Amino acid sequence: MTQHQIIDGKAFAENLRGDIAKRVAALKTAKNIIPGLAVILVGRNPASEVYVKNKAKQTKEVGMNSYEFHMQDTATEAELLAKIDELNKDTNVHGILVQLPLPKHMHETAVINAISPDKDVDGFHVISAGRLATGHTGFVPCTPLGCMMMLRDHFNKASPGAKPLAGLHAVIIGRSNIVGKPMAQLLLKEDCTVTVVHSKTKDIEQLVQMGDIVIAAVGQPELVKHNWLKKGAVVIDVGINRIALPDGKTKLVGDVAFHECFQVASAITPVPGGVGPMTIACLLENTLQSASK
Ligand code: GUN
Repeated sequence: MTQHQIIDGKAFAENLRGDIAKRVAALKTAKNIIPGLAVILVGRNPASEVYVKNKAKQTKEVGMNSYEFHMQDTATEAELLAKIDELNKDTNVHGILVQLPLPKHMHETAVINAISPDKDVDGFHVISAGRLATGHTGFVPCTPLGCMMMLRDHFNKASPGAKPLAGLHAVIIGRSNIVGKPMAQLLLKEDCTVTVVHSKTKDIEQLVQMGDIVIAAVGQPELVKHNWLKKGAVVIDVGINRIALPDGKTKLVGDVAFHECFQVASAITPVPGGVGPMTIACLLENTLQSASK
């Protein structure tokens, strides 16, 4: 009989933050080091302002130092690069995050690659991506790291061991640098068979149906339907989409049609309350790892 389980990312993230707070306190006692995370926001994107506020709040809650820098959207790229350079040299700062998206006149790749790879807690630097792809130690982007922690925990309950996902077929929907590609690398490292499908893939539904694990990360509201899934698949929904309702209100939905897919999946993450809360918790984990080095 197939179980229908909800993977509670909110509870998982709360536990992780509790554990991080203990390790932050231990680091302070043992080495007198307080991990510091610097976040730079350029411009006034309302969604970014909310993300940055939440990041700062949660950083302080686990006992770390939070440094916030707000720049006008008229700031030049040179001014932003100068701030990054200053933070790269600041020994109180162990992690640097430049909130994306940036204003159109700035070059995102150049800005990200100006961050020291030793402080790249977002894991977006080309060196971090290269390290992950070649099996070297480095920062892993926070959203796929959070997905991986939840998957390992879930499968470890069924088959405890170092590689609880070994031999499973994982299908990733989406090929972004931030989620799809690093997710593929992480799943390969766990000895999964990995398929990545995207907007140009033919017969996408048949391919997704092969997945023991399905990761949806495309930003298309409720794209994945119940008949796309193999019975008993484990589904991780990375999408966060705001949709309009007939009564004029809005609601958040994922890339997976939750209610119908819940009936077919053996376990599934909800939206909200699934992957989302894990992303900031993993940012704190990366910052702590950086400070511990
Ligand atoms: N914008 C939305 N999510 C993220 C994130 O995880 N990191 C950064 N730097 N910008 C974002």
